[in-house]
Amino acid sequence: MENKKNKFIRLGVNIDHVATIRNARGGLKPDPLRAAKIAVDAGADVITIHLREDRRHVNDQDVENLIQKMNVPINLEIACTDEMINFAYNQKPNSVCLVPEKREEKTTEGGLDVVKFQKKIAPAIGKLMERGIKVALFIEPEYSQIEAAASIGVPVVELHTGTYSNFQGNLMLNELKKIKNNSKEVVKLGMECHAGHGLTFDNVFEIAKIKDIVELNIGHFLIGEAIFIGIDNAIKEMKSIILSSRNLI
Ligand code: PXP
Repeated sequence: MENKKNKFIRLGVNIDHVATIRNARGGLKPDPLRAAKIAVDAGADVITIHLREDRRHVNDQDVENLIQKMNVPINLEIACTDEMINFAYNQKPNSVCLVPEKREEKTTEGGLDVVKFQKKIAPAIGKLMERGIKVALFIEPEYSQIEAAASIGVPVVELHTGTYSNFQGNLMLNELKKIKNNSKEVVKLGMECHAGHGLTFDNVFEIAKIKDIVELNIGHFLIGEAIFIGIDNAIKEMKSIILSSRNLI
């Protein structure tokens, strides 16, 4: 029988772009830590941050402050490089999501190619897990990637919803079906399934409805919407759409 517990879905709020605005002028404002605290009060279950090689949004100090001062899980997105794995190992966030990273991209374009790079990714997973960090791989909703992820023992995968978010009409519906079917495969192979990228008030409902997904990570839209309605209202509205998709409110 379904109960509230197995219907629950966490909202991870990515606050990178608060730091993007801060960095546009240098200095300390707006403060990502302040944003994280407001996000939690508004319903964020997890705070997500992406430390990029070029530190274009959050920097090392932001990550340290958030880990030390927040009492919700901190999910750190990083590329699978020695520098980033060592940084995460030392900082010990609650979870790490390994993402592909190209210096010239505007955002994380596409998922990690686990099929191709599993020999490089597997030891990084092992090192972080040995430190007690929950590790996820950010991948396309493709069975070959899911199978490769399972074969190297990662406990979580985050399915990339960017293609779904960029499409409309039938193409969007096809991508939704792909995410739905592949989330089932993730669970069948014994992993936890998360999803994210490009989610908005308009497209989140159908993704949140997929019962095999237990966490969504959402950033850019929420920080943009905060300009118009405030970060707290933007998060409250997102959370209420997500919970209503599970009939939890
Ligand atoms: N999940 C992962 C792994 C990401 O890299 C990002 C972008 O940093 C997101 C989710 C959030 O995407 P968006 O900012 O488009 O909501």
